Amino acid sequence: MNFQKICVLGLGYIGLPTASTFATNGVRVVGVDVNPHVIETLRNGNIHIHEPGLRTVVEAALKSGNLTVSTAPEEADAFLIAVPTPFYEDQVQEYEGRKYKLADMRAVASAAEAIVPCLRKGNLVVLESTSPPRTTVDLIIPILERSGLKVGTDFFLCYSPERVLPGQILRELIENARVIGGVTPESAKAGHNLYAIFVKGNIIETDATTAEMVKLMENTTRDVNIAIANEFARLAEKFGVDVWEAISLANLHPRINILSPGPGVGGHCISVDPWFFVEAAPELTPLIYEARQVNDGQPHFVVKKVKQALGELKGKKIAALGLAYKPDVDDLRESPATEVVHLLQNEGAQVRVWEPFKPEADMQGINMAPSLDAALSNADLILLLVKHTEFLKLDPNEVGSKTKARFLVDCVNGWNLEQWKHAGFNIFRLGVNKS
Ligand SMILES: NC(=O)c1ccc[n+]([C@@H]2O[C@H](COP(=O)([O-])OP(=O)(O)OC[C@H]3O[C@@H](n4cnc5c(N)ncnc54)[C@H](O)[C@@H]3O)[C@@H](O)[C@H]2O)c1
Repeated sequence: MNFQKICVLGLGYIGLPTASTFATNGVRVVGVDVNPHVIETLRNGNIHIHEPGLRTVVEAALKSGNLTVSTAPEEADAFLIAVPTPFYEDQVQEYEGRKYKLADMRAVASAAEAIVPCLRKGNLVVLESTSPPRTTVDLIIPILERSGLKVGTDFFLCYSPERVLPGQILRELIENARVIGGVTPESAKAGHNLYAIFVKGNIIETDATTAEMVKLMENTTRDVNIAIANEFARLAEKFGVDVWEAISLANLHPRINILSPGPGVGGHCISVDPWFFVEAAPELTPLIYEARQVNDGQPHFVVKKVKQALGELKGKKIAALGLAYKPDVDDLRESPATEVVHLLQNEGAQVRVWEPFKPEADMQGINMAPSLDAALSNADLILLLVKHTEFLKLDPNEVGSKTKARFLVDCVNGWNLEQWKHAGFNIFRLGVNKS
């Protein structure tokens, strides 16, 4: 199959790098987004998201004339769907007392609907958005067949999950192995040919539902593994053990790799995707459900730790360091640090947050400090929530000179106990029931 022109629907963290990479590899690409601000920003030669190296690739793609942007799709050889798949914030369902969240597939359905008038014989459609099992077969096929064309005979259809790491997207897009799930073997072959334009990693063909499960299994495994680390932290506190030491010793076993506990699990993938399995089969997923509960409950353990240090929280001033969902990124979506701040405030504490990657973030009900010093001044306690590199490099003596706080709570094992003690701090760590 010859791909001279493709349409990429959704120009976010996944769609924009993908569209630009195809364009810089000689394919004519129409990038489509329903958000006019995104289209206008790109038309002005700017980008609306932060990802290292992306600006250079987008500029090259636009300059070459291969990348154009639009609010609506047009006829093309292939269509890629990379739109959001969050869960509904305001809807839950219940199975045997377990309340679970529901996938919001409206963006995927409307992107597929927008393709229908443009779909022609011989076209390929690929869904990249992380989706519940059977989405490609049960949701996408019926929509696309409204065109009067038949899947497998008139057009090809695949599901291909995206597994890039934010911060490394442009490299991983090219180098990672890619799974192509076709609704027919011919569809998988067509998808293989499309991604072979720039993918250097292995390209493996399978069926669409397997490919959907692969993506969900990857993220669910991480969620469950983090949940067990968080439970180990709770157990270690009960038994007077330092969980960080215990984990590092357990990991000396050649077949054990325990992940790190922390204030919870965030981001738009790992804290969301396991729900897609639970919704699809609540009767089969008690473990996945419980892992979600453990990780979502972790901010309460952070609050307990802060109380252990300060006692009653009413009127106490806390400097919270970090609001992102993981180290060294500016992404605050679903961040457990946000939940920690809200819970502390509910207890009457006054919290000031220093997030160096997004100091001016407009977070409802959260008091963002304009600088580290502003957060530290007047604080009674310093709370380390995210392992940003710049926090790890802080000099305990310098921090000590800028604050009257003498208590620290470290949720991520980021600070050297002895150094901070030496600088006059009383340090409490998550997963350790002693200061
Ligand atoms: N960001 C990641 O690291 C990552 C990694 C793997 C998988 N994914 C998955 O990829 C998908 C996209 O994620 P993202 O991070 O790029 O999302 P995003 O929010 O950054 O971007 C999605 C874009 O799609 C646009 N959009 C919404 N509905 C549309 C429609 N009907 N037609 C055209 N455009 C539409 C939005 O305006 C937005 O600009 C999600 O399913 C996500 O779970 C993301």
